[in-house]
Amino acid sequence: MPSYNRPPIVARNWTPVVAIVGAGRVGCALGRRLHQQGWHMGPVITRSMQTARAARRRIGSGQPQAALSEAVLAADLILIATPDRVLAETAEALARIGSKRSGRLRQTHGAKGIGSKAWRGKIVVHTSGSVGSDVLRPLALRGAAVGSLHPLQTFSGRTVPSLAGSTCAIEGSAAALRMSRRICIELGGVAVALPRGHKAAYHAAAALASGHVLAVLEAAVRVLVTVGFPHKRAARALLPLTRQTLANYERVGARATWTGPLSRGDFSVIERHLEALRRFPREYREAYAALSRLGLNVLASGGGSKRRQLEQTLARIK
Ligand SMILES: NC(=O)c1ccc[n+]([C@@H]2O[C@H](COP(=O)([O-])OP(=O)(O)OC[C@H]3O[C@@H](n4cnc5c(N)ncnc54)[C@H](OP(=O)(O)O)[C@@H]3O)[C@@H](O)[C@H]2O)c1
Repeated sequence: MPSYNRPPIVARNWTPVVAIVGAGRVGCALGRRLHQQGWHMGPVITRSMQTARAARRRIGSGQPQAALSEAVLAADLILIATPDRVLAETAEALARIGSKRSGRLRQTHGAKGIGSKAWRGKIVVHTSGSVGSDVLRPLALRGAAVGSLHPLQTFSGRTVPSLAGSTCAIEGSAAALRMSRRICIELGGVAVALPRGHKAAYHAAAALASGHVLAVLEAAVRVLVTVGFPHKRAARALLPLTRQTLANYERVGARATWTGPLSRGDFSVIERHLEALRRFPREYREAYAALSRLGLNVLASGGGSKRRQLEQTLARIK
């Protein structure tokens, strides 16, 4: 098992200027919280002036920009919060900014130039949960300290969630780790340094605990709708059950919380559930079957004889 290290903390005697590259849901939320903590906002960069101005309003500070430019080099800390799929190209585009400057300055200042000086001392951190800081290699090669800081929280864009008590998974070079830890602590979060090469597994856990829980809950709501509940009423009916399950889980752990026909080994009930789910798209029964198998795996150490009975039931209700 990898070990999770307590990362070092950075000195608090200076407040860096922050540039935000990709000021969407996460970029604006982090920017707003950092601004509220007294951090100085520099460039706020999106893909159009309209979205950049809107982002500046949400953050409460900063200089809106519709594209990357040398202005980003005025910042000490560059937070990249673009979608994961464009992180590599964003890093390359940023690194080119430094090299263009370097080329011009090399012409005027001679062969030594100050190209890498443009990035030396800068800290560049992205917010993706699934990608490591290696994606920022073009910037590391230019002399920047690179890392990633993933707030283990969901940002819908409708509200700015509090990060108090939330974990921030951080990794990267020593300077990037120090800065990331400082950001996390100032936002009230708990910094955890991830060992290299574990971000995909870490992020799979986040997806299971957030989006997949949501999919299961919404499917349950839709089942109730078909027996006559209005959608909102169905959600209101199920949420207290879900909340109590989570509260029990937090207090006494998974096994002591587990109830329902699978925990009791009542396979006749499970058979009737599967029959009832025939009226729904195939995914409902597939998810029910997969979650039952997963339940036995994680809640009953594999399940033993229950596993055999479950498989027999699933085979009968094809
Ligand atoms: N949402 C969450 O709950 C959450 C939680 C933790 C971490 N994250 C991570 O945070 C990062 C950002 O996610 P998000 O949900 O904040 O995304 P988002 O709301 O879609 O915002 C993305 C931002 O990047 C800009 N952008 C999009 N494509 C671009 C491109 N090709 N080049 C340059 N800029 C581009 C967008 O500009 P415009 O505004 O002009 O469209 C927008 O400002 C991702 O790595 C994600 O995995 C997300």
